[in-house]
Amino acid sequence: MAVSWSSSGIDVHLAWRRETGRTGLAAAIRAAIREGRWQPGATVPSTRALAQDLGVARGTVTRVYADLAAEGYLRTAQGAPTRVATAGTLPQSAPRPTPWDPAPRWDLRPGRPDLTAFPRAEWLAATRRALHEMPATELGYSNELGVPRLRETLAGYLARSRGVLADPARIAVCNGYSHALALLTQVLRGRGAAEIAFENPSLYLFRDIVAANGSRVVGVEVDEHGIDVSAVGSPAVVVTAAHQYPMGVPLAPHRRAELTRWANDSGAFVLEDDYDGEFRFDSQQVGALQALAPERVVYAGTASKTLAPALRLSWLVLPRSLVEPVRAAMLDSGTRPPVLHQLALAELIDSGGYDRQVRRRRTEYRSRRDRLLAMLPENLAPRGISAGLHLVLMLPEDGPTEAEVLASCRRRAIGIEGLGSYWMDSPRPGGLIVGYGAAPKHAFNGAAQTLVEALWEVTP
Ligand SMILES: Cc1ncc(COP(=O)(O)O)c(C=O)c1O
Repeated sequence: MAVSWSSSGIDVHLAWRRETGRTGLAAAIRAAIREGRWQPGATVPSTRALAQDLGVARGTVTRVYADLAAEGYLRTAQGAPTRVATAGTLPQSAPRPTPWDPAPRWDLRPGRPDLTAFPRAEWLAATRRALHEMPATELGYSNELGVPRLRETLAGYLARSRGVLADPARIAVCNGYSHALALLTQVLRGRGAAEIAFENPSLYLFRDIVAANGSRVVGVEVDEHGIDVSAVGSPAVVVTAAHQYPMGVPLAPHRRAELTRWANDSGAFVLEDDYDGEFRFDSQQVGALQALAPERVVYAGTASKTLAPALRLSWLVLPRSLVEPVRAAMLDSGTRPPVLHQLALAELIDSGGYDRQVRRRRTEYRSRRDRLLAMLPENLAPRGISAGLHLVLMLPEDGPTEAEVLASCRRRAIGIEGLGSYWMDSPRPGGLIVGYGAAPKHAFNGAAQTLVEALWEVTP
């Protein structure tokens, strides 16, 4: 429901859906303030007027206003009307992490695999075989969607390992997920879908790519079941369904059904970022969402976690309607992954080397996760521990702030990230995203031990 109301000098225009309740109303008002529709310093509608317009109890609006005042979006004063906070005092999301160059002494940065575990000998052998066997014609201008042999191989691999409904004709091989996301943003914008919803929290880098490609980014809350599907109203949404990045929850079965039903009914697209789907540690496998609605879900996978980010190899499994637009966008982008790398990856998968690498890495990362959990203070309640290369530590409200913990880590040359930069709006409870993939094997225990020391230093 959109409400337009302006008798207090503020143009309400709230995009609020009743079923999203109080949380959704707060999110709609935050968005109106961030987007400047509720201008800094303006008087907001009275609780009575807004409640009447929305058809909700006045107490609901009062509580939402109180929450937003506590977050710094609104200013309340005894006997005076409630106002939007002034521009300089509006909450900002935390600054982006300061990059490390060279790499930190103790590398607990999330989203990175152990680069020393790249299977050099197997990659070399796969490249040699690929080079030996490739016909000369492969050295021409390659197919925009990728080398046919790799697309065949990926179709088989994704079907058996992730349950993807994968037809080689619908696969596009890209230069990493970042490239794939830029292409999709352009393609969707060309079809009139110039807004993409992201989970809140989510990785800022990808939101920036969407914004840089001309589309609007909006945030949707994540709870213990994954993204709040009832609050999605954009023509496209990016989800990390197997292991929400960064909070680590899998998208619950009822939410998966709800999301694909919504996409089918509304004609929206879902982009499933399956960035670490191979690294599930508990017995309960979480298959790809794409299989539930292959004409509405774009599946995206990457070699950045299983092999190395430097390969810049990723793949999309597309709904039929997007194959030709993506091919055309790929041609326009002028960027294509090198044919030799594509053929080497096909060789590695076909020879069983890729599966061996995934199994070895899974065993090692599970062992690191277990060691880290055993060392961490109990009150930090680690989250998202059943998969992937990272876990999240929530900082207790009566303890040190996120900035204090990050400063303590920086003093010890620990590379780590805070949750702050992942939120799209106001400051929330602080947390740390601990990557247990990045450190070389010999340095992991030292990194974990140094983190524990950094936490102790700032704990009262
Ligand atoms: C959430 C998420 N998705 C996808 C990727 C893969 O990105 P790329 O393939 O561009 O390396 C990453 C890598 O850090 C990630 O963290």
